[in-house]
Amino acid sequence: SILLRSVLKRGSASAIRSFSSESTPARKVAVLGAAGGIGQPLALLMKLNPLVSSLSLYDIMGTPGVAADVSHINTRAVVAGFMQEEQLGEALKGADVVIIPAGVPRKPGMTRDDLFNINAGIVKGLCTAIAKYCPEAIVNMISNPVNSTVPIAAEVFKKAGTYNEKKLFGVTTLDVVRAKTFYAGKAKVPVEGVNVPVVGGHAGITILPLFSQATPATNALGADDIKALTKRTQDGGTEVVEAKAGKGSATLSMAYAGAVFADACLKGLNGVPDIVECSFVQSTVISGLPFFASKVRLGKNGVEEVLGLGPLSDFEKEGLEALKPELKSSIEKGIKFATES
Ligand code: NAD
Ligand code: LMR
Repeated sequence: SILLRSVLKRGSASAIRSFSSESTPARKVAVLGAAGGIGQPLALLMKLNPLVSSLSLYDIMGTPGVAADVSHINTRAVVAGFMQEEQLGEALKGADVVIIPAGVPRKPGMTRDDLFNINAGIVKGLCTAIAKYCPEAIVNMISNPVNSTVPIAAEVFKKAGTYNEKKLFGVTTLDVVRAKTFYAGKAKVPVEGVNVPVVGGHAGITILPLFSQATPATNALGADDIKALTKRTQDGGTEVVEAKAGKGSATLSMAYAGAVFADACLKGLNGVPDIVECSFVQSTVISGLPFFASKVRLGKNGVEEVLGLGPLSDFEKEGLEALKPELKSSIEKGIKFATES
């Protein structure tokens, strides 16, 4: 209380910050694919997160430079770089959260599923190591196609006997980030206060933004506006792929979205109440779809509760029916790959 009094007397924001950080638990975050287009800015954003005490950066190439660079930033997290498979175990040991943006990105004309052949094997290898070195960690899967890579991870963990469905997340936060931005622009409301749930999966029509539940609600938008907003959200990734014209896909907005989602996972682990984010998780929300993105309450054990969809408009109900076959087949493709290879 002497300390508290002196903090209050000094009254400076930095004193209060350092006071509260003393009670913040130690948390290790590992980024796999940390030298890539997403990995580098994501490493930067995680270094800026005061909830992180140890930041482990792994890639098959380039991590010593990224780690040395990021490590000079005067924030809490102690940074270490790891390169090549023989250092993967050390990178993972003790991790609370593992974020995976490893793998190849799209070029114009490709679908996310066109990445399957290369990325499925990368994800399988990394998840095999996670099962061995940090089986308790929360996994945030960014590598595409998310609709298949999450089921692959689940199968790898099942085979290893470490699967915990509460700790495996496909990161769909970028869809939410886009839906919020596009909605705010069209509805002409300040973007900071906007919320839009996005459900389904993370590819084309499997991305289903629920603008009927957007807040703040508006009656300024007609059916055609909602249709256009939905299409733009579903094609947001392609919009960036085309604009980058062969130089990859979203990296900066994805790093932001990945940092938002990892922060929510850390807050949940630390016992902060009412942390809700949309994510692609093991689910019983829609029968026949063992994985589905919807709002999820995060807690000390990862998923605390998978929330239902709430009331849908007729347009959203149609969208939900339309996405089911594609999402089902992408999930099955992932499971088949992991069980047969
Ligand atoms: P990138 O090519 O710039 O970076 C990928 C990194 O992964 C590279 O540094 C590469 O060396 C590394 N890597 C490859 N194999 C590895 C392995 N076995 N272990 C560790 N690292 C390995 O690509 P990017 O733009 O950063 O995109 C990465 C992935 O994220 C792609 O699959 C992309 O489609 C996906 N993505 C997902 C979302 C989403 O919303 N979930 C958004 C954007 C991109
Ligand atoms: C995105 O939504 O930006 C990512 O999934 C990358 C891509 O291929 O579109």
